[in-house]
Amino acid sequence: MNYFNELNTLLDMSSAPYSGFNVAAIVVTEDNKVYKGVNVESAAYPTTNCAERNALQTAVTEGAKIGDVKEVHVLGRNSEKLLVKAYPCGSCRQVIAEQSANDAMVYCYASESDVENFTIAELLPHAFLGAEL
Ligand code: THU
Repeated sequence: MNYFNELNTLLDMSSAPYSGFNVAAIVVTEDNKVYKGVNVESAAYPTTNCAERNALQTAVTEGAKIGDVKEVHVLGRNSEKLLVKAYPCGSCRQVIAEQSANDAMVYCYASESDVENFTIAELLPHAFLGAEL
């Protein structure tokens, strides 16, 4: 399913006063439930939360279990208000890998028709999934 319209609307909920870069993310779980997230920036910069992890954490808060994440959809908008692809950062890739049991699909949008898709294993090869702990 294409989530461009939902992502585009969601961008306006992003709080990014420092970078001016808005990100919207939608997580879909195996039971086809949909969870939203936006980036929330902080004046103490490292306290910023990415859109993807906010959506993933909401999914877990509402009952998703490890392995349930099926898809992550992401759209960015830069400070010039142009829609651009936002590829998940390293930290988000780690959480996507763990919450999907390493088999999520990640969709990066710049428009309704310009969508790149990746497996999480492509984005984070040789993931550390905790089996060694
Ligand atoms: N950001 C995300 O929320 N997700 C991404 O995929 C890339 C980066 C946010 C973090 C920060 O608020 C802003 O984008 C600029 O890095």
